[in-house]
Amino acid sequence: MSGQGLFISFEGIDGSGKSTQARRLAEAMRENGRDVVLTREPGGSEGAEEIRRLVLEGDKDRWSAETEILLFTAARRDHLERVIAPALTAGQVVICDRFADSTRMYQGLGRGDLRGAVDQLHSLMIGRDPDLTVLIDLDPGVGLGRALSRGGTEERFESFGESLQSRMRAGFLALAEEFADRFVVIDGGRAIEAVAVDVACVVEARLP
Ligand code: ADP
Ligand code: TYD
Repeated sequence: MSGQGLFISFEGIDGSGKSTQARRLAEAMRENGRDVVLTREPGGSEGAEEIRRLVLEGDKDRWSAETEILLFTAARRDHLERVIAPALTAGQVVICDRFADSTRMYQGLGRGDLRGAVDQLHSLMIGRDPDLTVLIDLDPGVGLGRALSRGGTEERFESFGESLQSRMRAGFLALAEEFADRFVVIDGGRAIEAVAVDVACVVEARLP
């Protein structure tokens, strides 16, 4: 537990079903009378949503990996200060679609070995991780197909293609072992309802 609230993040490759499951979990918890803040990264606060446009739109070579670490961490700091930390202090449940594990993967591993830089900046500027991280595991080809079929303009990372998604999947599974105390891995290659039942069980077990 962080403060009095509960901080839950969803992680996984693009198209794995994080947003769908985060939304369903928030709805189910609200129906059970819990006070829930549903949020996402990059974004989740006004300033961080502005940074989101900078990092998710445009050419894939727009930013170096190092610059991306700074941009994602700046967005996260604003989101943490203005939304996440106050909600946890107020005793709310925070459900966040991606958090720092995404930076550990996409910037720390995706484009070279920059994990050390990600971790240093994280401990300097963020200094906290979720109480529970739900990793939705999915075949990268299936995930990319789902993500691209959504359309829209936020395709900068999807344009890195299936090889990045494959390395991200393996990286996330390794991260789940590294942080085994807070990670739970759920098979995302099933019907939305079946995945949601597993997510609900896992969260139920962690509730105070
Ligand atoms: P993410 O947030 O991980 O990128 P989304 O929740 O946005 O994934 O899902 C990507 C797309 O796949 C959406 O169109 C969503 O409706 C669909 N989808 C999500 N979960 C499943 C599932 N278990 N089976 C089939 N389609 C799914
Ligand atoms: P998101 O909107 O969650 O994409 P999706 O729904 O397709 O999973 O995130 C957009 C992209 O941002 C995604 O490809 C991963 C990337 N990302 C990073 O590279 N680093 C980060 O720290 C975060 C939070 C996201």
